Amino acid sequence: MKAKTPEESRTIMTDMVLPSETNPLNNLFGGELLARMDRAASIAARRHSRRIVVTASVNHVAFNRAVPLGSVVTVEAKVSRAFKTSMEIFIDVWIEDRESGDRTKANEAIYTFVAVDETGLPTRVPEVLPQTEIEKERHAAALRRKQLSLVLAGKLRPEDATELKALFFH
Ligand SMILES: CC(C)(COP(=O)(O)OP(=O)(O)OC[C@H]1O[C@@H](n2cnc3c(N)ncnc32)[C@H](O)[C@@H]1OP(=O)(O)O)[C@@H](O)C(=O)NCCC(=O)NCCS
Repeated sequence: MKAKTPEESRTIMTDMVLPSETNPLNNLFGGELLARMDRAASIAARRHSRRIVVTASVNHVAFNRAVPLGSVVTVEAKVSRAFKTSMEIFIDVWIEDRESGDRTKANEAIYTFVAVDETGLPTRVPEVLPQTEIEKERHAAALRRKQLSLVLAGKLRPEDATELKALFFH
């Protein structure tokens, strides 16, 4: 299976914030942003694996900045690392200033998707070959995040989480 770069899975979705998508403070409702990020991440995972993909876990979401009504929001997703059947997807969210057009980072998230066959069974995916500095950083830290996610899900015993242990006990 031929390895791919994160760039090959890059998915960009740009959309506006409409009144029906806001909370009482007139900012984007968190669940709406989660759904947009899930869609972009799903397309990125599909582009990387060329398979049916399902969301296995949402590992991290930071709602650092409120996104006001009327904002133009860009959700950018890339596969940061692939394991056997699972893929880590990094999602960066940007908002665009109406007058200057400058982009500001509003939020970010990390999702895990699994490639499955027609019966829903996990199936192999290509490796990721990171190119840029940030892609290399995200790739290097992904195993640690996978182990943390599996420990929290009760699917890996903490004593078997070698990468996490290395982080805390030198
Ligand atoms: C995701 C799913 C396919 C995993 O099935 P499973 O029986 O746990 O399969 P496995 O144990 O073989 O795990 C498959 C891969 O997922 C990874 N994985 C499973 N749960 C995970 C979690 N919580 N966090 C990170 N990775 C996880 C495993 O580490 C494994 O990765 P690898 O093959 O790259 O090493 C299965 O749980 C599923 O179909 N869930 C429903 C998905 C869905 O409908 N999502 C939409 C929600 S509305």
